[in-house]
Amino acid sequence: MNKGLFDFSKEDAVTRYKFLVKEIRRHDELYHGKDKPEISDADYDVLRQELDEIEQRFPDIVVKSSPSKKVGATPSKGFKKVKHSVPMLSLSNAFSEEDAQDFIVKIQRFLSIQDDIEILAEPKIDGLSCSLRYENRKLVLAATRGDGAEGEDITANVQHVAGIPKALPDNAPDTLEVRGEIYMRRDDFAALNQRQIEAGKDIFANPRNAAAGSVRQLDSSITAQRPLHFFGYALGEMSAPFSKTQEGIRKNLSSWGFVAAQPSALCNNINDIMAYYNHVMMLRPDLPFDIDGVVYKVNDIALQERLGFISRSPRWATAHKFPAEQAVTILKDIFIQVGRTGALTPVAELEPITVGGVVVSRATLHNEDEIERKDVRVGDHVIIQRAGDVIPQVIGPVLDKRSKEAKKFIFPHHCPICNSLAIREEGEVVRRCTGGLICKAQAVERLKHFVSRNAFDIEGMGEKIIIEFFEEGMIKSPADIFRLEERDRGSLTPLRSRMGWGDQSARNLFDAIERRKTISLDRFIYALGIRQVGEATSKKLAAFYGTLDHMMEEMAKTVHDRGCESFSDILNIEDVGPSVADDLLGFFAEQHNLDILKDLKESLTIPAFEKIVAEGSPVAGKTVVFTGTLLTMTRAEAKARAESLGAKVAGSVSKKTDYVVAGADAGSKLKSASELGVRILSEEEWKNLIGV
Ligand code: IVH
Repeated sequence: MNKGLFDFSKEDAVTRYKFLVKEIRRHDELYHGKDKPEISDADYDVLRQELDEIEQRFPDIVVKSSPSKKVGATPSKGFKKVKHSVPMLSLSNAFSEEDAQDFIVKIQRFLSIQDDIEILAEPKIDGLSCSLRYENRKLVLAATRGDGAEGEDITANVQHVAGIPKALPDNAPDTLEVRGEIYMRRDDFAALNQRQIEAGKDIFANPRNAAAGSVRQLDSSITAQRPLHFFGYALGEMSAPFSKTQEGIRKNLSSWGFVAAQPSALCNNINDIMAYYNHVMMLRPDLPFDIDGVVYKVNDIALQERLGFISRSPRWATAHKFPAEQAVTILKDIFIQVGRTGALTPVAELEPITVGGVVVSRATLHNEDEIERKDVRVGDHVIIQRAGDVIPQVIGPVLDKRSKEAKKFIFPHHCPICNSLAIREEGEVVRRCTGGLICKAQAVERLKHFVSRNAFDIEGMGEKIIIEFFEEGMIKSPADIFRLEERDRGSLTPLRSRMGWGDQSARNLFDAIERRKTISLDRFIYALGIRQVGEATSKKLAAFYGTLDHMMEEMAKTVHDRGCESFSDILNIEDVGPSVADDLLGFFAEQHNLDILKDLKESLTIPAFEKIVAEGSPVAGKTVVFTGTLLTMTRAEAKARAESLGAKVAGSVSKKTDYVVAGADAGSKLKSASELGVRILSEEEWKNLIGV
């Protein structure tokens, strides 16, 4: 139970009140300013409620700047989650002319086309992406991107966004999803911040944050007061295709009441592309909205379909980013951060400075060699750079401005957290703490990763809570998270009161944990935090092994025998090369990791991985080997198409192979297929089978 208010002495109330004011302000800043809330909206409500109660009981202690004097900052309930019918993808990036050229060349190679490929170029708007669903030409749903597969329902909040028609004309398809960017114009952003200052509220760091903070208001009447706009640039699900080109899509969307970002251009080659890029870069300072680059899209939709996707982005589009923005400031100090894999990363503490609209006070220095190579010293003036969402970097010192007092940094050989030896293995740039399980920093970082948004996504379980629980010995390994509620009956109480938790806050956290006791295999693998195994690789592993038990069996076979078939299976998985395989097997070779897995399995339900395959795919789950020269498609295209239909594409023929597709001049693979009795298909037969 919460301590009853009438049990409080005034002195107690003042202490608690000061804590609440500070804490609520911090959460307001995280939520509105940074768009990065640390606690759930429900937990925030509890804090606000307690503040209100104290203010009513002790009106003479109320401070002028109390959060209760702000209107509209109170989120009341969470957004509903919605699954996207077609995933919302992101874009690959190009940073130079060579990268842009490479984008074109790869497309030509993939499609085996030597001629020019028409590209539609348009600005890349810096806002937040949104999917609008129209059914029978009425707007029925608006959703944020979220993790690409699932976003948040913001239908109520987009009602007042300019450029979002509520209804479409008769010639629009019955079902249509329009994807685009919600953004705030620069002049509107400046005026909003002015109003925030006048009202004594926190200001937004940049127009993107302002747009995101405005859209994510749980009270849609506040969103209605924020001047937001929408640019449409792509499509999701649709009942009938209506255009053969990207340019046509832009035209159709415009005729239906959407707005497309200007200027756009059709380009035929790298010269056209670079002319467009330079032109837009020149216009950039005078555009009414923020852009962070331009986007190139293959104009022909039929070619887009052939090109398909790689991991989370289309092969047919890329974002060509503008150069990062730079600034000069003073390097006040260097401290060492310890990551979840024990890596020691030097971080620069800077005199705060605005770069590209954002205040930067820390930047990464990567590793000890970088500090040496750049010769940056504490006290130096340094050039820092920020590009998009990337962590700001220190480029180097301004030598003319170096003072005599500037000090060389001596990189520690011991972990600053647990004091274990930190070693650098031969050929590695990173120095790592050898403390393993005893190192608090590693344990906490691993737990943070475990509960993070793209892993277990446990709402309300922020860094502060993890550290507290860790220090109290309540959560040492991930499986302890799922036993928290059990423990709560006894030993949690003192901790609760220290953290200022009421019953509701605890309930919210336990509920959030409970909701995640069923988790998809790919998220589970990602949550383990195995070095080099990110989200995309986790998905590939989940798709390949199907279940955790199967994956563990295969890993167990391979850990001590790299000559076995299971090992070549691992290397056959897209994205998994020998180095990733080493890290993966390294993880499964450690008994303490196996113990953690066993422990987790007891608390969790991990359903067999559901592959997103085309409905009724005749080759889902089948293993296919392509051999010889194919006539109507490139090998890469054939592989991508087969995989999108749920087939596994292997490099060599074995008993497990279902089909060998033999092109012209097929050699030894064809021979082994007939020896093993594997079904052999011609290119034509394969295309008939998959319905091309
Ligand atoms: S096309 C299937 N066009 O940039 C690809 N995206 O960094 C759909 N963005 O997720 C994206 N302007 O939120 C496209 N003209 C534009 C864009 C644009 C901004 C955003 C979008 C995307 C992100 C990738």
